[in-house]
Amino acid sequence: EQISAEKARLQGKKVVVTAGGTVERIDPVRYITNDSSGKMGIAIAKAARDMGAHVHLIAGNTQVEIPEGITVTKVQSAQDMYEAVMEVWEQTDLLVKAAAVADYRPKNKVDQKMKKSGSEMTLELVKTIDILETLGSKKKNQFLIGFAAETNDVEKYAIDKLHRKNCDLLVANDVTQDGAGFGTDTNSVFIFDKNGLVEQLSLLPKEEVARRLLLIAADRMAEVSS
Ligand code: CTP
Ligand code: CA
Repeated sequence: EQISAEKARLQGKKVVVTAGGTVERIDPVRYITNDSSGKMGIAIAKAARDMGAHVHLIAGNTQVEIPEGITVTKVQSAQDMYEAVMEVWEQTDLLVKAAAVADYRPKNKVDQKMKKSGSEMTLELVKTIDILETLGSKKKNQFLIGFAAETNDVEKYAIDKLHRKNCDLLVANDVTQDGAGFGTDTNSVFIFDKNGLVEQLSLLPKEEVARRLLLIAADRMAEVSS
């Protein structure tokens, strides 16, 4: 009975998940990215599908196989991801921002392969748009879940991001812990809301972290709408 009820926990809800790392082009053959594998976000997309949601995955760089039964938009840069998210934002019930978005991108767009010259070179970078913060400031009825990968002072930074980006929940992981963070099949996370720690999930498969996170979100979304 628990299982069948769980299968309908997000029935009919429109869920948008961003996953993977963004790719910021330097020139036609070089780019800046990060270690995000996309596993956590894709596990969330799959778990949401299994709870009856209509799922739209906006995926940056990832090698993970995309599950069946979800809509996918592939993107490269932070700007592309922002535009893809904005196209679906109005109709979104739950947005999960699991992607690792580059904070900076090369300032200049270079259409030809850069040639080497001196013994040093400087690459100028400019800030990307903060997608989550922008969504947080536009939020109406959407339930917003942010992520934070930290190496130190996890709680302090997580709570700060939750407030700054106006998230309903923020999932923080200490990427220095064994079996947590980039590329692993497991994760250890702290889930915060505006009142503090909601739940700590230690060293669980990413599928299970995804499932438990979505059950918390589904409960809270049901409270608001009832
Ligand atoms: N994020 C985003 N757009 C950006 C940067 C981050 O939407 N340009 C989102 C991430 O997808 C994540 C959350 O913001 O859900 C936190 O990302 P994180 O890198 O931990 O936080 P930053 O605000 O970028 O701060 P810093 O990297 O300095 O810790
Ligand atoms: Ca960042």
